[in-house]
Amino acid sequence: MAEVVLREVRKSFDTVEVIRGVSLTVRDGEFVVFVGPSGCGKSTLLRLIAGLETITSGEVAIDGRRCNDLPPSERGIAMVFQSYALYPHMSVYDNMAFSLKLAHVRKDEIRERVERAADILQGRALLERKPKALSGGQRQRVAIGRAIVREPKVFLFDEPLSNLDAALRVQMRIEIAKLHRDLDTTIVYVTHDQVEAMTMASRIVVLNAGLVEQIGAPLELYHRPVNRFVAGFIGSPKMNFLPGTLIAATRAAKGSAVTVGVRPEHVLPPGAAPSGELGRIRGEVALVENLGESALIYLRVPGADGLTLCRIEGASMVVDGERMELGISPTALHVFDEAGVAFPRTVDALPGAARRAS
Ligand SMILES: Nc1ncnc2c1ncn2[C@@H]1O[C@H](COP(=O)(O)OP(=O)(O)OP(=O)(O)O)[C@@H](O)[C@H]1O
Ligand SMILES: [Mg+2]
Repeated sequence: MAEVVLREVRKSFDTVEVIRGVSLTVRDGEFVVFVGPSGCGKSTLLRLIAGLETITSGEVAIDGRRCNDLPPSERGIAMVFQSYALYPHMSVYDNMAFSLKLAHVRKDEIRERVERAADILQGRALLERKPKALSGGQRQRVAIGRAIVREPKVFLFDEPLSNLDAALRVQMRIEIAKLHRDLDTTIVYVTHDQVEAMTMASRIVVLNAGLVEQIGAPLELYHRPVNRFVAGFIGSPKMNFLPGTLIAATRAAKGSAVTVGVRPEHVLPPGAAPSGELGRIRGEVALVENLGESALIYLRVPGADGLTLCRIEGASMVVDGERMELGISPTALHVFDEAGVAFPRTVDALPGAARRAS
């Protein structure tokens, strides 16, 4: 268990700066998830913590100790990658024991640690097998087991589940969350997967082009994104953005152009829409996707950026080309100025879930 502190960390490859001044603290025992578009620097930042890359400037400290110049083996970390990189000629047991043998750990202690890790991952029965006789999920479990036996202060995961099929991802997601609970350890985890980030993280770090856009608890980012980037990035399907004009606000002049954001799940079906002119969207149905438990209705709305998506519970019988009027609950609106900065939302304007999270 340990705290990880980054202070103004920068990293350049040749002349290109890919991490442009990142400061953050991963608290002891916290599960922090890095998200952001491809190429934004998630893996690089993780590798800087691990010591697999050297930082250009700034400071990395693990467990109170500056470790800019320490090799990975002395940082008390263990990293799990997307590709499991198991040794094919070794049994599962030997794969998991390998780093301990290198470190001259006593034989009986190695056995004890490997068996304990195998039990945590329910993989005792696999110990004598070779990696080629394992499924993808089992291989990933061995890769995680290899990290557990080292008893690191900090686990670093780089998209460990992205090679697995959907069902296995759900299962492994639950296992990793349980691992975090059982071992009570600090975890930094990179993922592309919204559900992984929302469900596993104590806090999410949203990165964009080498900078932190926002750090917060999952529901805080969902309900109170500080800018349009975070608003569009967190949440699936994505938030809709519509042009608007400010009628009243403290910060900007009345009449200024703003962008109004509304999540597909907060667009209300006809009938549930509030009365009056305010909070209405009129458009023409471009496409309907019935998913069973919900339906996605894509509307062509004049002036909107692309199609406007509405997600309703159950099935929808509307057809392409039909004209529809939908409502927006005023409490679910996000408003952004021309620079993309969000106008603050008052707690009272938020749905109940956000109040619990804050
Ligand atoms: N060794 C390297 N030399 C030069 N450029 C690099 C190197 N490693 C990474 N980069 C660049 O740094 C940027 C960030 O890469 P990084 O792998 O951290 O992104 P990422 O957020 O993990 O993306 P993805 O989601 O696709 O894995 C990219 O533009 C990448 O091309
Ligand atoms: Mg990456």
